[in-house]
Amino acid sequence: MAIEAIRKRRSVRRYEETEIPDEKVEEILEVMRYAPSWANKQGWQVIVIKDAETRNKVAEVLEGNPAQKAITQAPVLIVVCMDPKASGVQNGKEYYMTDAGILMDQIMLEASDMGYGTVFVGRFDEDKVREILGVPREYRIVTMAPLGVPAKMPGERPRNELDDMVHWGKW
Ligand SMILES: Cc1cc2nc3c(=O)[nH]c(=O)nc-3n(C[C@H](O)[C@H](O)[C@H](O)COP(=O)(O)O)c2cc1C
Repeated sequence: MAIEAIRKRRSVRRYEETEIPDEKVEEILEVMRYAPSWANKQGWQVIVIKDAETRNKVAEVLEGNPAQKAITQAPVLIVVCMDPKASGVQNGKEYYMTDAGILMDQIMLEASDMGYGTVFVGRFDEDKVREILGVPREYRIVTMAPLGVPAKMPGERPRNELDDMVHWGKW
């Protein structure tokens, strides 16, 4: 059941050095072929970084981010880049951000289901990351996540009750 993977997932910020076979990374990234997106445009490109030097360079520009160290520890870093033109804009809402969020969530859930840890990282200097990774101007770098074997599994974070969030019928 999806709820089991959803409840099991945590933001992991401490990792073992254990390598992840490329086939496992590919297995996780298979979700890219099935995730929903605006008009099925699939306007995403993913960069898989294993090289420690590059990961360290990216981590350097995450100064003050609680996930900074995780990026140096985990053996793989996944970076999600989006072409905003391959998604829609409605009432000022730019749906390429939604496409990217859904994609990363599905990557994180599949990784969690396979026993790996991830953490959604949204706060970073995009221009500096663009320079390090050579991402073309027409793409936005929306999110990245370290991927690895958790060294420490955090407990469940506090969550609001359904009654505080759900309106049946109308607001
Ligand atoms: C849009 C978004 C941006 C986030 N950015 C960061 C980030 O830059 N650094 C970080 O350590 N965690 C980041 N997180 C992770 C959240 O802090 C985390 O999901 C939340 O505290 C709930 O904890 P859980 O994922 O373990 O359930 C982000 C999550 C989301 C959805």
